[in-house]
Amino acid sequence: MPDKANTMLEKIEKLLHEVEGFTAQTIDQVEEYRIKWLSKKGEITSLFEDFRSVPNEMKKEMGQRLNELRNKAQEQINFFKEKLETVTDTNTAGNLDLTIPAYPSIQMGSRHPLSVTKNEIIDIFARIGFTVSDGPEIEDDWHNFSALNTPENHPARDMQDTFYVNLNPEMVLRTQTSSVQVHIMEYQKPPIRTISPGRVYRNEAISARAHCQFHQVEGLYIDDQVSFADLKQTLLYFAREMFGAKTEIRLRPSYFPFTEPSAEVDISCTLCGGKGCNVCKYTGWVEILGCGMVDPQVLENCKIDSNKFRGFAFGMGIERITMLKYQIKDLRLFFENDARFLKQFSPVSL
Ligand code: DAH
Repeated sequence: MPDKANTMLEKIEKLLHEVEGFTAQTIDQVEEYRIKWLSKKGEITSLFEDFRSVPNEMKKEMGQRLNELRNKAQEQINFFKEKLETVTDTNTAGNLDLTIPAYPSIQMGSRHPLSVTKNEIIDIFARIGFTVSDGPEIEDDWHNFSALNTPENHPARDMQDTFYVNLNPEMVLRTQTSSVQVHIMEYQKPPIRTISPGRVYRNEAISARAHCQFHQVEGLYIDDQVSFADLKQTLLYFAREMFGAKTEIRLRPSYFPFTEPSAEVDISCTLCGGKGCNVCKYTGWVEILGCGMVDPQVLENCKIDSNKFRGFAFGMGIERITMLKYQIKDLRLFFENDARFLKQFSPVSL
């Protein structure tokens, strides 16, 4: 009898092994194995019949193993049955219409207005050969200030309230995307024709007209024959593409440490077309950017020969351009993530 019991134990172990390794690709296979193991004449069922004649002292151990085997087999059968039935259902259900729109309908998001403007600026300049470049937001003093002719204690540093990094006072959160100019000129030989959009930071009180973080686009063009006339024409082209074909520009002399001469650029008021209204404070003009011819000393700071090359640069605020374009009165709206404001801008096309 113990012999018979041992053969039974061996059978159980063999079957356990088979059950554990069982997988099925079709529902017919599952049924085939259900019959093989668990039907009236199945292998496991007949082991239970044999179990009756097992000596008492072996009943406990054998009973446990046998139950384990039956439960595992049943689990496997159930698992694969359920899995394959669901797959078969969705695949073969002839009346399932996959073209019906999801309900409730999926809400389409929209691009952030600042991204809409940024992309438009990139497109406009790409059409006249400007590439897009990028630089770090945590910047060293050299790239943000010194290379741009603004050494320590230079009064022009007061134009921008700077966030310094506590751990290293040499590092700042960049106050202007002009810092990217320096990176580009350091690693790229002229001709250079690029714009650099990005986020900048200044220690300003938050109000309808100012924020401690905002966005700029820097433009840089360096070659052997670049004139102030090229700068003016480039900016006129930009203004008309951005604000409409009737837009005029006006340049006013200004000061920036890294350009000489420097200018601020106004466009004819987008709302009243120059007649005078409260947007342009009845002047007919609104300021959009700063620009100038790159100071030869800045070229030299970046190891570009100022006797051979010259260029122009400009910098504009993306918030400002967006506010003018869409008549937005409060800059804080850009940072509040209020869906009622954001959804007014073009839906994302997939
Ligand atoms: N970086 C200046 C600012 O943040 C803007 C600017 C002015 C950029 C003149 C330029 C430029 O490239 O030529 O106020």
